[in-house]
Amino acid sequence: MSNRVYIFDTTLRDGEQSPGVSLNVKEKLEIARQLARLGVDIIEAGFPITSPGDFEAVKTIAREVRGVTVAGLARTNFTDIDKAWEAVRHADQPRIHTFIATSDIHLKHKLRLSRDQVVEAAVAGVKRAKSYTRDVEFSAEDASRSDPDFLCRVLEAAIEAGATTINVPDTVGYATPDEFAEFIKYIMNRVKGIEKVVLSVHCHDDLGMAVANSLAAILAGARQVEGAINGIGERAGNASIEEIVMALYTRRDRYGLETGINTEEIYRTSKLVSKLTGMDIQPNKAVVGKNAFAHESGIHQDGVLKERTTYEIMNPTMVGIAHSNLVLGKHSGRHAFRSRLVELGYSLSEDELNKAFARFKDLADRKKEITDQDLEAIVENEIRKVPATYELSYLHISSGTTVVPTATVGLTRGEELLEEAACGNGPVDAICKAVDKITGYSCRLVSWGINAITGGKDALGEVTLRIAENNKERLYMGRGISTDILEASARAYINAVNKMIYEQKNPDM
Ligand code: KIV
Ligand code: ZN
Repeated sequence: MSNRVYIFDTTLRDGEQSPGVSLNVKEKLEIARQLARLGVDIIEAGFPITSPGDFEAVKTIAREVRGVTVAGLARTNFTDIDKAWEAVRHADQPRIHTFIATSDIHLKHKLRLSRDQVVEAAVAGVKRAKSYTRDVEFSAEDASRSDPDFLCRVLEAAIEAGATTINVPDTVGYATPDEFAEFIKYIMNRVKGIEKVVLSVHCHDDLGMAVANSLAAILAGARQVEGAINGIGERAGNASIEEIVMALYTRRDRYGLETGINTEEIYRTSKLVSKLTGMDIQPNKAVVGKNAFAHESGIHQDGVLKERTTYEIMNPTMVGIAHSNLVLGKHSGRHAFRSRLVELGYSLSEDELNKAFARFKDLADRKKEITDQDLEAIVENEIRKVPATYELSYLHISSGTTVVPTATVGLTRGEELLEEAACGNGPVDAICKAVDKITGYSCRLVSWGINAITGGKDALGEVTLRIAENNKERLYMGRGISTDILEASARAYINAVNKMIYEQKNPDM
């Protein structure tokens, strides 16, 4: 059996099914490019039949991201499969991923099909996909709760029809590691032809066991593992790719297996996914959490200073977390600023660099030390954003326990300065209302949250919020940073409004 484990990334499909997440084509393409840099083997770019936006995203990724397999998801009906093919056909290595549920509970309540009908649909779907491409993945949805003998019958039929990868999902995160390993072994011993295909697993995290189940399945013989960056996905999410990869690497003494992942790209990928989805990473998240390499107790700090391996099983640089933390201050010049950005892996255009430098100077006046995280936040949140119709010129707030919160906002649109004032239930509400008066849009603030980027009283606050136009469902996520949380809120709100305007003007972006 091969010692190579294929990494199938479904951040852009299952991950995007996380509540509140909605990525546009440009954002999906940016994530896909980073996934290719990370070295995943397969990018599941979306579910093309579900919306024109999803179709467009899969098609764009297939055309533009080379050197990696691009998969599109489809149910077993021909309309889904034809659409998936249309979307992935221009990929370097296109894959159609087709699925149908196999558990009795799904057959009875959802599909209302007999077992024979499910076998028939699976075979027809795989054959249709096979008529387009040699690379066909078949998934038995809710496999872990299916009758094992019936599941084996479906899988055998799918292999006979031409599937080249067979995926066994724990769709509802019900399995336990020991049980799932036995299940995989059973399938490997029972299903005729299984040795000719790649056996894959796809675990959800409802009981917090997605990574453990995936690793147990790998030990039992699975050679493709599906998951999402930061473990995002339906409900409690999917298995976290970075945790699986680092477990395989750190414990290679035990697993003896390899992936094609460039682990030094993990941290950057995780940050990008978090930024574009608006899903914060919990501080104690394994591998990529803010605290994953922080040592609080004196005994631990002392140990790590004497010898890092006393309390660190992974070197943070292995996952791409930069060494140095303290960098620039208000006297730092443009040259030092540019060099540090290059060291952090950014190559900005002259125009972007000018904007970033101006923001840096502005921050350095208010904050003594500018760290790598601050610089990353400036570039990721302020510079690499959609073209801005409106930019914040100034903000004035009047608020307190005995006054009606009022905001006066100045925005520029090109050369023009537009000003409005509004009252609200609180200062953030007042800011949003004043911005709406200027833009002419009427938006709901669906969520608002703040994180400190670094420690200390002068820490940069990063506000992440989501808005929707009144009476519409589509959510737009915005981020803004400042040492002042109201200014950060204003910047985040304007960022979200700019995204909305840009998407409405460019529906195919
Ligand atoms: O969880 C699941 O079963 C899925 C399939 C479509 C693979 O996402
Ligand atoms: Zn899933």
